[in-house]
Amino acid sequence: MNLAELNAVAEAMVAPGRGILAADESSGTIRKRFEAIGVEASEDTRRDYRELLLRTGEAMSKYISGVILYDETIWQKAKDGTPLVALIKQAGALPGIKVDEGAKPLPGCPGELITMGLDRLAERLPKYYDHGARFAKWRAVIDIGEGIPSDTAIRTNAHALARYAALCQAARIVPIVEPEVLMDGGHDMARCYEVTQFALKQTFHELYLQRVALEGIVLKPNMVVAGKKFSTRAPVAQVAEMTLRLLKACVPAAVPGIAFLSGGQSDEEATAHLDAMNRCGGLPWKLTFSYGRALQAAPQQAWRGRSENVATAQRAFAHRARMNSLAALGQWKMDLEKKAA
Ligand code: 13P
Repeated sequence: MNLAELNAVAEAMVAPGRGILAADESSGTIRKRFEAIGVEASEDTRRDYRELLLRTGEAMSKYISGVILYDETIWQKAKDGTPLVALIKQAGALPGIKVDEGAKPLPGCPGELITMGLDRLAERLPKYYDHGARFAKWRAVIDIGEGIPSDTAIRTNAHALARYAALCQAARIVPIVEPEVLMDGGHDMARCYEVTQFALKQTFHELYLQRVALEGIVLKPNMVVAGKKFSTRAPVAQVAEMTLRLLKACVPAAVPGIAFLSGGQSDEEATAHLDAMNRCGGLPWKLTFSYGRALQAAPQQAWRGRSENVATAQRAFAHRARMNSLAALGQWKMDLEKKAA
């Protein structure tokens, strides 16, 4: 492991005003997204759609530091034969790869999941590195409900995240460490805080035990928000305050950056929350975005699978990328959204 090299990549992923495009939806997830806009999912339509995003010059060269790809996508070529990885590099961004193989039921823990994919990971990573990937992602899924999460789910997922992170660093790849506490369900913010705290504490404990260099990771957490079925939404300032309090209590200053997931927040909520946190200033790590839905919902709606809509979809993507770039600098304003509408 070359720590200086890993640290340089991690710093580039969270460079000021830049964030990560999570375009690593599995074939099943992208099928659902396409169904919602009336597009049939095939290797070609998935490629066309991802190509549209990666060819959005303004977004890719100014606001996006890296793109997380799915295994199918990292090997694909654009319509004109250019490898998609080359499009990312030409824009000055870093290619990344989701390496987990999804979450499966955790034995003995009804309703809970453990993320799979460690078995052949050591052999897979060098192939991704040779193809240009400089960072990877692994997502642990923690659900909140009646009697869950269990200690078992938190601990086994934290252990797997650290196993993955250690293997990545040995292969010169920066791991995005993502212990996602879901915002499904009817819990309040205090419960989200408590569960996320446990998940982060356990994750950093395992990272320490497994000798992962914190200078060479990027953390991808959820924000502290109530479940979608909870009666009220908290003000932006309260989400920002609680999320920062939590992160300060759990995330060592050696971590270069934190790139949030959007997790089902609306586009503007995800942007407003990130902006409010960055306005607080004086933080030991960079705070930016690693959004999937909050960057892609708008371009997907605009595209709807039609080539005549490509330019409009690209404008929609560039707009969200710019809004989140401003939020990563603490310079976003709601007025900018209205003007674009
Ligand atoms: P969302 O921003 O849609 O939550 O996706 C980010 C991601 O990569 C989840 O693993």
